[in-house]
Amino acid sequence: MQDVDTLREELIGAVDTAADAGALEDLRVSALGRKGRITELMKGLGAVEPDKRRETGQALNRLKDEVQAAIDTRKTALDSVALDAKLLEERIDVTLPARPEARGSVHPITQTIDELVTIFGEMGFTVAEGPHIESDYYNFTALNIPPEHPARQEQDTFYLPPDESGTPRVLRTHTSPVQIRTMETVTPPIRIIVPGRTFRSDHDATHSPMFHQVEGLVIDKTSHMGHLKGCLTDFCRAFFGVDDLPLRFRPSYFPFTEPSAEVDIGCSRKGGEFRIGAGDDWLEILGSGMVHPRVLAHCGIDPTEYQGFAFGMGIERIAMLKYGIPDLRPFYDSDLRWMRHYGFMPLSVPTISGGIN
Ligand code: DAH
Repeated sequence: MQDVDTLREELIGAVDTAADAGALEDLRVSALGRKGRITELMKGLGAVEPDKRRETGQALNRLKDEVQAAIDTRKTALDSVALDAKLLEERIDVTLPARPEARGSVHPITQTIDELVTIFGEMGFTVAEGPHIESDYYNFTALNIPPEHPARQEQDTFYLPPDESGTPRVLRTHTSPVQIRTMETVTPPIRIIVPGRTFRSDHDATHSPMFHQVEGLVIDKTSHMGHLKGCLTDFCRAFFGVDDLPLRFRPSYFPFTEPSAEVDIGCSRKGGEFRIGAGDDWLEILGSGMVHPRVLAHCGIDPTEYQGFAFGMGIERIAMLKYGIPDLRPFYDSDLRWMRHYGFMPLSVPTISGGIN
């Protein structure tokens, strides 16, 4: 019988240097398989002299275990080498940007709202919001626009089916209903602005069926027309970044304010070039007035004790003026090229100290 030690040396040497899983399996079969070399030796034990049989049997069993252990160890090592190679081959650089060309930016509407909120926030206003679907009462009646009032026709309202209780509903045509909702629930003093979406059935180069307004409301016992003027003058100068921007308060009419004023800012159109600032021309940018006593009364606020002012303006309009955006329609097109041109850097948040403009 072949010397067990020599066989061990040969087999374990071959196992330790097996190049891959296939070669290792061949070795296992040739040593431990049904016709393997160790198996054959075990089968031949019967021919061994009886006094050596036990000792040889034990030696072969040990050899079998040792070869099996060597195969297992080698297999683990080969598996780990194979895994390393596979991982290396399938390596992905997760730090690479997935789509380097699509960099996000802040939409001019969002930017303008951030700027408004910053300026009015500095003056002590907080932001209020209300629903886009309004009852006819909040959108019109409570604002002193009764059912047959001509102002209802002027607004190109989107009417909706009434709710379960039969209450007529509309898509709000302005942010003014949030004045009512606020005055119904908050005890004055009140100082809010309401940026938000508004809807009118109107669509051309300067009108969109969905657009944005910002409403302002101040209610206390002493605020008067002079405060309205000061507040809106400060706002316009800060927003447009023109310290001596001239403002003109022109008498006007709104059902929910008395007296009412429309506000124009100074501009010039010399040589076909439009410029905001001192000039010989005016441009209307907002509506305002002292809150009508009847509106206060509708909200349960005593008009002999409280008073205040309100204003409203179109956000697209002031954004177009400030940033020189000529057409309204691309605001809603989600066109990346337009966004790249007119969008704002994501982290350049407007602040009073860091600058609005
Ligand atoms: N709600 C008006 C509109 O949509 C704008 C407006 C004018 C709001 C005067 C006001 C205001 O609060 O006082 O045209």
